[in-house]
Amino acid sequence: MHRQPDTDLLYRHPELYEVVYDGDNHAVPRLAETIFTERLGRQPASLLDIGCGTGRDLEYLAKHIPDVAGVDHQQVMIDYARQRRGQIDFHVGDMRTLRLHRTFEAITCFGYALANVHANRDIDKAVATFAAHSAPGTLLILEVIDPLRTDKLPRSFTIDIPDLRADAIAEYRQHHAQQLLERRRTWRRAQGLVHDHVTFRLLYPKELEYYLDNHHFDILGAHELREKHNAASAFVVARYRDNTAPEEPP
Ligand SMILES: C[S@@+](CC[C@H](N)C(=O)[O-])C[C@H]1O[C@@H](n2cnc3c(N)ncnc32)[C@H](O)[C@@H]1O
Repeated sequence: MHRQPDTDLLYRHPELYEVVYDGDNHAVPRLAETIFTERLGRQPASLLDIGCGTGRDLEYLAKHIPDVAGVDHQQVMIDYARQRRGQIDFHVGDMRTLRLHRTFEAITCFGYALANVHANRDIDKAVATFAAHSAPGTLLILEVIDPLRTDKLPRSFTIDIPDLRADAIAEYRQHHAQQLLERRRTWRRAQGLVHDHVTFRLLYPKELEYYLDNHHFDILGAHELREKHNAASAFVVARYRDNTAPEEPP
């Protein structure tokens, strides 16, 4: 897995993350609430958000979910999340190895966090982590890049706050054989240019189904959002099945 937090302006400055991704009026957590209502008939009693970043979505969801926890592998993100959202339980952890030794009624992984995991064996470990925190019936919502809609990924970005005005144009380059998508962004500020670079792993639907099924998740459906920064997203919803029941003969 390539980790490039040092090259990402927003990861070095978590406070800017929420300026650039303004959240479109909490479109993602609002969609999650709708999915929970549809699938559970209510909000879950507990939720784990993996790759939670600044914890903004968790703060929104915590209004109706009493027991929430967030995990991110970047200390700088978790420090910021704790400082801004001290009432929430945040942990530094890698989605490939995290073990909190408890289960949740729902698990979310938003903002293409899983796409930062590139190798097949690491994706498998990440899905094993989702399973390790699930009980039969746990709902999983994964926001992934729809590989058939990469043309909908955002191309332009703006920061406009009193201390900083900056615009960025993103260029994407797809490496089809490796199923990797590189994004290079150049930020123009009065003080000069800043570059950032990130690589996403693309997962095709049948591959994702395979990883999930291997770890006892059944896909229930997928949702889309039209908002600017999520127009290329598929929100895949899966349920952890009861794997203690005897298997049906093939
Ligand atoms: C684009 S941000 C999304 C943050 C948040 N979920 C949101 O939607 O606003 C992706 C996050 O995934 C985290 N991440 C990437 N790889 C990770 C890993 N292996 N384990 C845990 N977090 C990871 C990054 O640190 C980053 O905060």
